[in-house]
Amino acid sequence: FTPKTLAGQHVVVSAGPTFEAIDPVRGLTNLSSGKMGFAIARAAHEAGAHVTLVAGPVALPTPRGVGRINVKSALNMQRTLQVLAQTASVFVSAAAVADWRPVSAAEQKIKKDGSGSVPALNFVENPDILAGIAAQPRAVARQLFCVGFAAESQDLQAQAQVKRVRKGVPLLVGNIGPDTFGQDENALLLVDEQGTTELPRAHKLHLARQLVAEIAQRLPVGSVA
Ligand code: C5P
Repeated sequence: FTPKTLAGQHVVVSAGPTFEAIDPVRGLTNLSSGKMGFAIARAAHEAGAHVTLVAGPVALPTPRGVGRINVKSALNMQRTLQVLAQTASVFVSAAAVADWRPVSAAEQKIKKDGSGSVPALNFVENPDILAGIAAQPRAVARQLFCVGFAAESQDLQAQAQVKRVRKGVPLLVGNIGPDTFGQDENALLLVDEQGTTELPRAHKLHLARQLVAEIAQRLPVGSVA
């Protein structure tokens, strides 16, 4: 039995990596498995929320009862999330968004020309999707509660607090441990204005349920989507 702490809420979760095209058959991505975001989507549904999962390219089944939109690039993910953020009441940004993308993708497959020369790749920075959404009036007014993630390799507590303020979110979740990517277990550090709470090492679904309960506690009393 799960208490329906998120009944009436519309929860949007981003998950997985993004894929930044180089040409029609090649691109850049990262090792995010999407497992944490998918677990959060499942836990939010169990807690009674209407859940939309915005997923980068991952090979995970959609949790039962959850709506899923597949995206590829960071720009693609941003467009989708910006629309959903207009009606959502909670946004959990668990996706590992690529920091950079190639300036432009070649329309045709880049071919070897036989001379041994290699193509040059030029990059441009991707927008910070979470910071952009957290700066929107609905988020500033706490009608949309935004939650960020951080994977820091050192000094997690201080770095997570800095990141929380920089992104403008009330709650930031730090992944404890160097290599949580692809693992079934994780440990989390929750950082908010009050301080930090540690969720000890456990299966990602267990952590997701705890995180959902923590989010529910922080929503404005009597709020519904
Ligand atoms: O800055 P950093 O990538 O460490 O921040 C991680 C958090 O910001 C995650 O919640 C991630 O989903 C989000 N993010 C984003 N857009 C980016 C980079 C990160 O929304 N371009």
